[in-house]
Amino acid sequence: MIRNVSLNRWNYRFWRRFSLTSCLAASLLGCGGSGDSLPSTAEPSAAPAPTSADPVSSAVSDSPASEPTPAKDAAMPTIATQSFGQTPDGAEITHYELTNANGLKVGLINFGAAVTKVETPDRDGRLANINLGWPDLAGYLENKPYFGGICGRYANRIALGKFTLDGEEYTLAANNPPGHLHGGKVGFNKKVWAAEPLADQNAVRFTYTSPDGEEGYPGALTVVVTYSLNDQNELKIDYSATTDKATVLNVTNHCYWNLAGAGVGTILDHNLTLFCSRYIPVDENAIPTGELATVEDTPMDFLKPEKIGTRIEQTVNGAGGYDHCYVVDGTYGELRPAAKVVDSASGRVMEVLTTEPGIQLYTGNFLNGTPDTNGFIKQSAFCLEAQHFPDSPNHPDFPTTELKPGETYRQTTVHKFSVAK
Ligand code: BGC
Repeated sequence: MIRNVSLNRWNYRFWRRFSLTSCLAASLLGCGGSGDSLPSTAEPSAAPAPTSADPVSSAVSDSPASEPTPAKDAAMPTIATQSFGQTPDGAEITHYELTNANGLKVGLINFGAAVTKVETPDRDGRLANINLGWPDLAGYLENKPYFGGICGRYANRIALGKFTLDGEEYTLAANNPPGHLHGGKVGFNKKVWAAEPLADQNAVRFTYTSPDGEEGYPGALTVVVTYSLNDQNELKIDYSATTDKATVLNVTNHCYWNLAGAGVGTILDHNLTLFCSRYIPVDENAIPTGELATVEDTPMDFLKPEKIGTRIEQTVNGAGGYDHCYVVDGTYGELRPAAKVVDSASGRVMEVLTTEPGIQLYTGNFLNGTPDTNGFIKQSAFCLEAQHFPDSPNHPDFPTTELKPGETYRQTTVHKFSVAK
């Protein structure tokens, strides 16, 4: 039976603060439990080849012109950069490749501030790309599934594309009829971002300024997203944003993961733990009903590790699978465990920690094996999108997504990779 739970006042006070104070995100080590550590050296990839184009090799090794950014000293990691082509408007797109001491690799582009690939070893040390993507810029220009990109200004849905802020009603594109999805027709995942490689942090910082009125949102908003990869095998995404006029904001990264390797079967056998005692029921248009329901005795319960596929057919209003936002347990604003996924076959483990109040579990229900989804089949990947709750501007009881001039939005989300024996 689903029991509805309302926010208690203590939680509510925290939630109203909406990241206006700095997130307690500094300490990553020791957070969230882990699998066994990764082998220190990675052998050449022997993972099964994805059925469709592999952005790892096609994006990076097709051209001989890979030029490492000059490092200040020998110990500093190098960030390999390479042209990724030009947009139809002539903007230069660059591919950045971060590598850590254990051989993990992360690919990034300044189109959509997107992750193009994440290579991690399996329990035998064999590297494979576990992040769905496109082989070239043409794929990212279309990118119907939002592979790897930053979604905004408002990730997830806003009912009927309408909200009121400071007494004024705003109308956004109903690009996911009847609602608004992932920032509208041309969201942040389709924008050219300024990029700055930060070799001393093994990081790339992306900046985008969304003009006042873009996609119908008020206020010129500057968003900064920094991806960094450390030698504890943590891919950290730090976000910050400021505005010159009151606005609403919900940003997330939209990576699709398959721990067996992109293109290797479905994720239905992956074991998932969600550190989430409540989730947000939605109507047939995937809009929150306003309740925060307990997961107890429902197919939404992943408090203990469970295969993603076990009860996927019993989900409600998820388009044939999971497509729901969960309420992450613990204190919003603090970096805390949200999810852990284990693929027993390869041994790969991914943990997600976040400062956000929610995390959207989406099991790739709209992937359909066509060129629109780069040939990737239904449920061949899962997304864990750390974020605020969908349609928050129309739910005053949800943690606020309003940002005012003088305030700074902050989010930190960490993906930690390891292997289980
Ligand atoms: C949404 C899905 C949507 C997918 C791709 C997810 O964040 O929850 O409903 O199909 O993104 O747009």
